[in-house]
Amino acid sequence: AALVAASAALAEYPEKPITIIVPFSAGGPTDKVARDLAEALRVPLKATIVIENVGGAGGTLGTAKVAKAAPDGYTLLLHHIGIATAPALYRSLSFKPLEDFEYLGLINEVPMTVIGKPGLPANNWGELTKWLKDNQGKVNLAHAGLGAASHLCGLLFQQSLKMEMTTVPYKGTGPAMTDLMGGQVDLMCDQTTNTTAQIASGKVKAYAVTTPKRLATPALAKLPTLDESGLKGFNVSIWHGLYAPKGTPKAVADKLNTALKTALKDPGFVKREEELGAVVVSDARTGPAEHKKFVGDEIAKWGPVIKAAGQYAD
Ligand code: MLT
Repeated sequence: AALVAASAALAEYPEKPITIIVPFSAGGPTDKVARDLAEALRVPLKATIVIENVGGAGGTLGTAKVAKAAPDGYTLLLHHIGIATAPALYRSLSFKPLEDFEYLGLINEVPMTVIGKPGLPANNWGELTKWLKDNQGKVNLAHAGLGAASHLCGLLFQQSLKMEMTTVPYKGTGPAMTDLMGGQVDLMCDQTTNTTAQIASGKVKAYAVTTPKRLATPALAKLPTLDESGLKGFNVSIWHGLYAPKGTPKAVADKLNTALKTALKDPGFVKREEELGAVVVSDARTGPAEHKKFVGDEIAKWGPVIKAAGQYAD
């Protein structure tokens, strides 16, 4: 009877709107990926997809909400590297990344850029490092909380430069970008999905990219890498994945993974990602097992790095 009910449920799934929780504010890079992906998922899933922004605590509040949601396939999580860095940042984390979720597949890789407020009196990396040294102790660095990509990059950036900056937390780098453009904060390290347009329009200053190789995106191609600028080995690339609560029926999870694979081949989605400096992952990386193994490897990779920086949220 249970089998019949389950297969009946699957036959209908989805029969109502699906909510994708984004654990950061609207208008930020995670939100952009989610809205673009939702657009590409609508046809394969034949469902209305609603984006719900649940910001706070570097993405851990929204992530915890999905971990506790009903495992019926109607509440999903779209999150980034923060799901793997949170265990090293929070001693009492309210979710276990590898135990509390069904892994539905990786989505993309996104480089980061070091950007500054429009009035910052430095127009390239060399002038920026001089300005940073001359203003030691007075520099405000924006990020989106412990667990955010902007926090991770900012942490490594300060470590590499051997400088302490005043860090200003936001619920997402969408609102942080507004303050940066307004000059309320000086500096930020953020994903190209959020910075490409502002850099191209000259609304912020851009100094470097965080990946080992320069980027092909026209507005970003002239930016040097941090590695070539002297921060040897600096390499931060943000990735996104899709998750459902543990216990979601396998048939439903498989249907979502299949729809994701289709969405990642949607020409419009791929084009929008590339325009923003992001790269959609290859088909081989979108399997649930590959996704879960990758997150496990990332937890193992970033844990010691973060612990060495001695940054705890609690
Ligand atoms: C966002 O979407 O606001 C960002 O992902 C925040 C961050 O991780 O820096």
